[in-house]
Amino acid sequence: MSNYRPINAIVLAAGEGTRMRSVDPKVLHPLCGQPMVMHVLDSLAELPLERIVVVVGHGAPLVIKALRDQPASTKPVEFVEQSVRRGTGDAVGIALSNAAFDDDGEDDVIVVAGDQPLLRPETLAALATAHREQDAAATILTAVLTDPSGLGRVERDRDGKIARIIEDRDATEAQRAINEINTSIYCFRRNLLAPALRRITPANTQGEYYLTDVIEVLRSAGHKVIAVVAEDAGEALGINDRAQLAAADAVLRERINERWMRAGVSMVDPARTYIDARVEIGVETRLLPGTILQGSTVVGEACVIGPDTRIADSSLGHRVTVENSVVQSCVLGDDCLVGPFAHMRADTVLAVSARVGAFVETKNSNVGAGSKIPHLAYVGDADIGEGANIACGTITANYDGANKHRTSIGSAVHTGSNSVLIAPVSIGDGATIASGAVVTNDVPAGALAKGVPARITENFKRPTKKDAPKAPDAPQSSAP
Ligand code: UD1
Ligand code: CA
Repeated sequence: MSNYRPINAIVLAAGEGTRMRSVDPKVLHPLCGQPMVMHVLDSLAELPLERIVVVVGHGAPLVIKALRDQPASTKPVEFVEQSVRRGTGDAVGIALSNAAFDDDGEDDVIVVAGDQPLLRPETLAALATAHREQDAAATILTAVLTDPSGLGRVERDRDGKIARIIEDRDATEAQRAINEINTSIYCFRRNLLAPALRRITPANTQGEYYLTDVIEVLRSAGHKVIAVVAEDAGEALGINDRAQLAAADAVLRERINERWMRAGVSMVDPARTYIDARVEIGVETRLLPGTILQGSTVVGEACVIGPDTRIADSSLGHRVTVENSVVQSCVLGDDCLVGPFAHMRADTVLAVSARVGAFVETKNSNVGAGSKIPHLAYVGDADIGEGANIACGTITANYDGANKHRTSIGSAVHTGSNSVLIAPVSIGDGATIASGAVVTNDVPAGALAKGVPARITENFKRPTKKDAPKAPDAPQSSAP
């Protein structure tokens, strides 16, 4: 069909977003673990687009960097800079003349704003489909609101055809009574949009080039302008302040949770379950209240996570339990048990069936299959073999005050309570470390390391506190 032209997209993201009261550009404020504008790009990525052009301005280097650093589920985007904010019409004009579009202009351009993170791909697809099927010059996504204040109103003529869009500030009393609004999401024929943009002027209360003015220009030139009315008006709403940001976060979170529940993940209390947009979760996994899964986390099947557990950028195998714990940038094999109250810091790798228990902190360590660190230990910069038992209070003293050193602990090693392994040090397979040992030399396989027995001083007098301030009115101690 001849009207099935290629589609491109322009994302407007040059604005400052003053109402956020933030040093960061508005479009970088995060929702479900990724910048607001990334959600817009994710929705666009579902369409068969040729190119995506993002118009940046305020905080341009930050916006460009943030979008370049994101994982590559979205299509590559091209950036054009609008150095002075002269209005939405100017922004689109700059995109059209500076991005690498084909010369013929025989394509459609979707225009969206970077502050519309709730926009669903289905809605964009419906807009593009209506635009192509009716061979329109411009198609506007409109919404009917009970309170349209502040937004551009869609004025229709007697036949119900779109006549123009009037901005709230420039509207008459009668126009303000219209409750069909412009969502600022459009599909245009590019070779009609470009000349129409050259005809708009900043003759309005804000002295800006309004993209909305091209509608009247196209209509007076006899072109077809149509509207698609959004089924869910909330989807198209722009985020202007942090209250709207939190509300949008809640909507996205609900969508994400619903998607995972339909995919076979259980949640005891979805309202208290927080899953970032890019997280992956296997079937039969149960998420208990207060579970926060962040970043690029992947959780396997039949795991039990929570309550009150944060897992960021980590990968969990199947049947893993993590209870009341924090896990950051770690890899946990199948059947591992973590918590309650463990802090697993970056680059801890647990092999299958390993256990990290209560009040254990780990960092940059490898823990072999079936090894246990059940309670109150610090394991940092260590490599532990299989089937080892790291007792209560064992510490790998990895830091000499200047440099970090590694500790190597063989398979089937048992450490005693409160033993300190001063790195660099190596404990051979099957070695035993006695309680309270301070290990400074390598321990051969099968050996026992016993250490620092306490020396006894009889009739010891504890030091008294010097210059203890005297409080004259202090009540007499009633301690025995
Ligand atoms: C715009 C529409 C209005 C619509 C509303 C929906 C215009 C003139 N008005 O108004 O009809 O109801 O959106 O939310 O288009 N931007 C730039 N460069 C600029 C100016 C804006 O990139 O020079 C970007 C902003 O960052 C923002 C988007 O364009 O993402 C919309 O601009 P904004 O000034 O917020 O327009 P509204 O007043 O909301
Ligand atoms: Ca806006």
